[in-house]
Amino acid sequence: MTTTDAGKIVDKLGRPARDLRISVLDRCNFRCPYCMPEDQFPEGYQFLTRQQWLSFDEIERLSRIFIQLGVSKLRITGGEPLLRPDLPDLIARLIKLEGIDDLALTTNGALLSRMAGDLAAAGLHRVTVSLDSMDEEVFSHMSGGRGSLAQVLEGIEVAASHGLGIKINTVVQRGINDHTLLDLLEHFRGSGHIVRFIEFMDVGTLNHWNLAKVVPARELRDLIHARWPLVPLEHNYHGEVAKRYTYADGAGEIGFITSVTEPFCGNCNRARLSADGEMFTCLFANRGTDLKGALRAGASDEQLLELIGKVWLHRSDRYSSQRSTGNAAVLDHDRVEMYHIGG
Ligand code: GTP
Ligand code: 5AD
Ligand code: SF4
Ligand code: SF4
Repeated sequence: MTTTDAGKIVDKLGRPARDLRISVLDRCNFRCPYCMPEDQFPEGYQFLTRQQWLSFDEIERLSRIFIQLGVSKLRITGGEPLLRPDLPDLIARLIKLEGIDDLALTTNGALLSRMAGDLAAAGLHRVTVSLDSMDEEVFSHMSGGRGSLAQVLEGIEVAASHGLGIKINTVVQRGINDHTLLDLLEHFRGSGHIVRFIEFMDVGTLNHWNLAKVVPARELRDLIHARWPLVPLEHNYHGEVAKRYTYADGAGEIGFITSVTEPFCGNCNRARLSADGEMFTCLFANRGTDLKGALRAGASDEQLLELIGKVWLHRSDRYSSQRSTGNAAVLDHDRVEMYHIGG
């Protein structure tokens, strides 16, 4: 295996593996039309079964191996990860792994008020809550009529009261929620919570994406700047996807995730693990590598290290960059769905 320094591998484009995103199940209690549209996922839809999920032992074991390859940051995702039974037990195990300096979780927030205490007690550092609008009707449209704005806001408050760091992720769709974004910022200005606007992405194949529905981050930034002047900030860490800004008046930080208009593949150090144990090296991949099969066939740690290391060494994904330079061929293939690998 080629390594830069002890055990830290880089892919074909020189990118290390730093961030492992672990999906713990593919179910969700929301039906956001941009991710899991109701008509494609009606009641009775066959999601992964419990037997197909990686067990906590398996997740912990794979995490150790990813750490050997250079990973220092873990993010728990879904679907909606708070639907996974006993999730705090997994957090408690992962936080103990030597080499992890950041452990976060992405949630839609509906169950957060109930679970934040246990998650914080287990050692979770921070949560990222998806919240697309402060307008009840728009919220309801964007969650597929599930959950409630009040629940999510309460979840955020309870999580903060337990000392969890908070970020808010807001997917922006032109004509759907873009008229409600200043209200959302107004609500969180001064709270210490960081709102990040995400350009609507062409992930998966079910969300009827088209470029006209994307509001370029620079357009949004100008709009916000006219109301509350913004000052750009440096990245917090190498490979951070959000472009950071601070309000000039000291009311805190916001960010933009510009996957469509200003792709950031050059620094992409993220590996993804689906709930059924496949490893994906890009959000837009069409296939993963089956790690669960190897685990359950009795592979040793060395064999798993070799398998995962090889996948990373051969990695050359840079989908968003190719798409933005007009390489139409990359649009042609099937893509994994977001709820399967958690974004
Ligand atoms: P921090 O650790 O708080 O910096 O957040 P993060 O970089 O882990 O971001 P988060 O998981 O909150 O990502 C926010 C959103 O950005 C995701 O849900 C995706 O929509 C998008 N995103 C994150 N990583 C990638 C990526 O590697 N490629 C693309 N195209 N989009 C990404
Ligand atoms: N484009 C941009 N962001 C998306 N997310 C889900 N689907 C999309 C999409 N098509 C976001 C969610 C959540 C995170 C997991 O990914 O809103 O914040
Ligand atoms: Fe669920 Fe998140 Fe997908 Fe919405 S974006 S359907 S909350 S997994
Ligand atoms: Fe990474 Fe793929 Fe996103 Fe590019 S498109 S930043 S390679 S996950």
